[in-house]
Amino acid sequence: MTSLNATATISTDVLVVAVIPAAGRRKGATVRPDTGLTAVGRRKLEEALSALGATAATGEITRVPGSGIAKATMVVAVGLGSDPNVETLRRTAGSVARSLTGTRRATFAFGSSDPDDLEAVALGGLLGAYTFTAFKGTGTTQPTTALKALSILTADPKSEAVRVALDRAAVLAEAVKATRDLVNTPPSALSPAALADAAKQRASEHGLKARIWTEKQLRTEGFGGITAVGQGSVNPPRLVRLDYRPAGAKKSLALVGKGITFDTGGISLKPPQAMETMKCDMAGAASVLEAVVAIARLGLKVNVTGWLACAENMPGGKAQRPSDVITIYGGRTVEVLNTDAEGRLVLADALVAAAEEKPDLIVDVATLTGAQGIALGNRTAGVMGNDDAARDAVVASATAAGESMWPMPLPDELRPSLDSQVADLANIGERMGGMMTGAVFLREFVPASISWAHLDIAGPAFNSGSPHGHTPKGGTGMSVRTLVRVAQDLAEGRFV
Ligand code: BES
Ligand code: MN
Ligand code: ZN
Repeated sequence: MTSLNATATISTDVLVVAVIPAAGRRKGATVRPDTGLTAVGRRKLEEALSALGATAATGEITRVPGSGIAKATMVVAVGLGSDPNVETLRRTAGSVARSLTGTRRATFAFGSSDPDDLEAVALGGLLGAYTFTAFKGTGTTQPTTALKALSILTADPKSEAVRVALDRAAVLAEAVKATRDLVNTPPSALSPAALADAAKQRASEHGLKARIWTEKQLRTEGFGGITAVGQGSVNPPRLVRLDYRPAGAKKSLALVGKGITFDTGGISLKPPQAMETMKCDMAGAASVLEAVVAIARLGLKVNVTGWLACAENMPGGKAQRPSDVITIYGGRTVEVLNTDAEGRLVLADALVAAAEEKPDLIVDVATLTGAQGIALGNRTAGVMGNDDAARDAVVASATAAGESMWPMPLPDELRPSLDSQVADLANIGERMGGMMTGAVFLREFVPASISWAHLDIAGPAFNSGSPHGHTPKGGTGMSVRTLVRVAQDLAEGRFV
């Protein structure tokens, strides 16, 4: 883990200095004020940048020797463009931190002492300083150690507001990174039981109550969705419940996560290429786990229950067959026409269980449909729900948290496509707008009296492309920051 502190002085291996495009008719980069450089150091850096043709465009990174500029071995100038906002700060700090893999100490001087800006720089920097090396063997030649120590330059490093801002950044970054670790962990090392145990371990570290349902208990209590999906695997399914109950909470939030530790599709087997990234199919559950931990660490005044619906979707001899009929927790029956539409089956069980306790708001998170990525691309999640106001409030929370989410409708005309000849419901329906069809299925398992939002993160949960900003390749941790923000907004009365 990268350490984080605030500092007013520069003495470091790498000094990162924010630059902006020069004003007026001048060309090149201007060092932002309040970046801790002397007049001489500033001029020397601007001359070097000019010689190198730097323009200070957003995300532009220019490295120069530190000698004569500041007490640093190397100076990295990072462009913020002409109109930077907090999101610019998070992303550029992330890009720079990524470029500093192998570096020990860096000081980020972004030219603002505003606590919100400092939090953004710290969060972006910590998120960018991420590598996943748990499974690297002795053949590694690349430098794989993430930046070890991150200092944020500010005028008043001892102030309470700065301390709060950096603590928040550290808690959020740890939650997002722990989510990435779980997503990146290969399924051979993360069975449903292992995921449940990891959740229990995390919970106990942070004073949360945890309950795990074994396969036998799930069967006895009628969780027919989770057990049906899990029955084709030798690694049995689990349901996890986490409780955070702070004093003085007035509202309650249930978070439900899809925890398919590997999705082969089951008997409706996926083609090989579609399976390559399917270790990410537990990203929803991992996000819920780490969001509950972060909410507890931040001491937010809202009751939170986390539900992790964990199973491995395999085509074993005991696997469910297309046309099997299963009974979801609470008694409704589903004809499983496609065993690859398994997320909605495990979530149906968990949503019914979550709703039994009548929380003020239920939010589920799932890598539910390939159609999600088709509709919104790989960087934006879809938000749906049974209550437009709650859905829009979740989108607003996401925006405030710096995650890209977009509202989608749940058209009623999709519902008949889920009718079954033999059961209450079929698990597949209209293919066009398949993200919404999946959500319309889930809506059937939430009482209309409870506000519910559904986040489909199938596209953004896993980055198969190049890293960008503070987002690495592989697991991204997308949705954790939104869930924490939803809890905060609920606690502070900005919700239903
Ligand atoms: N886990 C997949 C969805 C997915 C696809 C997540 C790509 C991340 C990237 C889900 O279980 C699935 O297979 N959905 C099917 C649903 C269909 C059978 C109705 C899909 O999208 O094809
Ligand atoms: Mn599937
Ligand atoms: Zn799946």
